[in-house]
Amino acid sequence: MAVTPEDSGADLELVGITKRFPGFTAIENLNLTIPAGSFFALLGPSGCGKTTTLRLVAGLETPTAGRILIGGKDVTDTKPHQRPVNTVFQSYALFPHMTVLRNVAFGLYRRGIANPLGLAHEALRLVELDHLAGRRPAQLSGGQQQRVALARAIVNKPALLLLDEPLGALDLKLRRQMQLELKTIQDEVGLTFLHVTHDQEEAMTMADTVAVMNKGRIEQMGAPEELYELPRTAFVANFLGQSNLFTGPVVASGADSIVVDVAGAKIEVPRERAQRHTGVVTIGVRPEKLSLLVEEPAAASGVNVLGPGVVTDVSFSGVSTQYLVEMPGIGTVTVFAQNMVFGPVVNRGAEVWVSWTVDHGFGLADDEEPEPRFAPDDDTRSIAVKRREALEAELDEA
Ligand SMILES: Nc1ncnc2c1ncn2[C@@H]1O[C@H](COP(=O)(O)OP(=O)(O)OP(=O)(O)O)[C@@H](O)[C@H]1O
Ligand SMILES: [Mg+2]
Repeated sequence: MAVTPEDSGADLELVGITKRFPGFTAIENLNLTIPAGSFFALLGPSGCGKTTTLRLVAGLETPTAGRILIGGKDVTDTKPHQRPVNTVFQSYALFPHMTVLRNVAFGLYRRGIANPLGLAHEALRLVELDHLAGRRPAQLSGGQQQRVALARAIVNKPALLLLDEPLGALDLKLRRQMQLELKTIQDEVGLTFLHVTHDQEEAMTMADTVAVMNKGRIEQMGAPEELYELPRTAFVANFLGQSNLFTGPVVASGADSIVVDVAGAKIEVPRERAQRHTGVVTIGVRPEKLSLLVEEPAAASGVNVLGPGVVTDVSFSGVSTQYLVEMPGIGTVTVFAQNMVFGPVVNRGAEVWVSWTVDHGFGLADDEEPEPRFAPDDDTRSIAVKRREALEAELDEA
């Protein structure tokens, strides 16, 4: 599709956005800048406020406080159709009485754009559905309807495209294929994409920037690799992939690293990768960074070791095998080992040690919520906080 300057993406800025529904705060003081032309993913669990954020940007909800700017222009008080925004909703909302082609061309007709049917065919080719242009939505599968909804939004070349779980109805293979295609489409048309998903792999594959949202707040934002390799909170460490988290007091603090006592083992974490350097802290390491050893390794600098523990579960998942290791005084440690040999490296019941390079560890900020804002639950952050409180109480007694 040809892109003219006024078609290219626009910056989106959310400044101090709060959204309160009667008796419920869905978004709290959200500040966010999405640069023009970027592919931005908002990632978070069900109910964290993703759709609400998109509806605010689209103008379908009014913020309780704060301003919304698109391309530097304050649109907070403008109507949805006055905003240079198109949305692909979680439910695709196609017109049932129109053909696929008419559905896609609809917005172009309404705005009096030349050659609406030609442009609609072009958009349908992008989502590989042009051969079904003559069908009605009811004659399509859910995944096909979702792709029509996508074509219908892209064809308008909005400065800002909002995508609310646009691939939710697709099977895994088609989903992966569409992820790559969407990314190509975004590169080609140069629009700003705000993509909402609860699928962490999807967010990491597609976006240049990922914001992890939890209970109406953004916990951490950055490039996918950065978020994955250096999560700052227990929530991010576990929502974006899996993590092994350990809690203990800092017992030594050097220029380059801190040492944390984890159930008697001295675990070193690079200072610059730890958010806190004193007191009781929670540290972590990703399961694929761990090596499984059947003999106690000789102490070596730059390497952390935990063990011995007992393998309680071995599960094969194709590319890797997951081992669960019960470590006395610590709990369960998860190890992902790439399948380089046929069959498991160790079996259930085996005595093992785990080790990892110091540089792969991270230390969490793990700040406590001043008071529970929502109904208490057992998410990873509150578990980490509880663990820390219990340890602090123990230390006070000692
Ligand atoms: N009109 C409303 N009135 C009251 N509460 C609402 C309203 N709309 C949404 N909420 C609440 O706000 C919270 C955020 O909802 P939202 O739809 O933004 O979640 P989401 O992150 O999109 O979740 P999902 O992944 O399940 O789509 C939810 O707890 C929801 O119940
Ligand atoms: Mg939603």
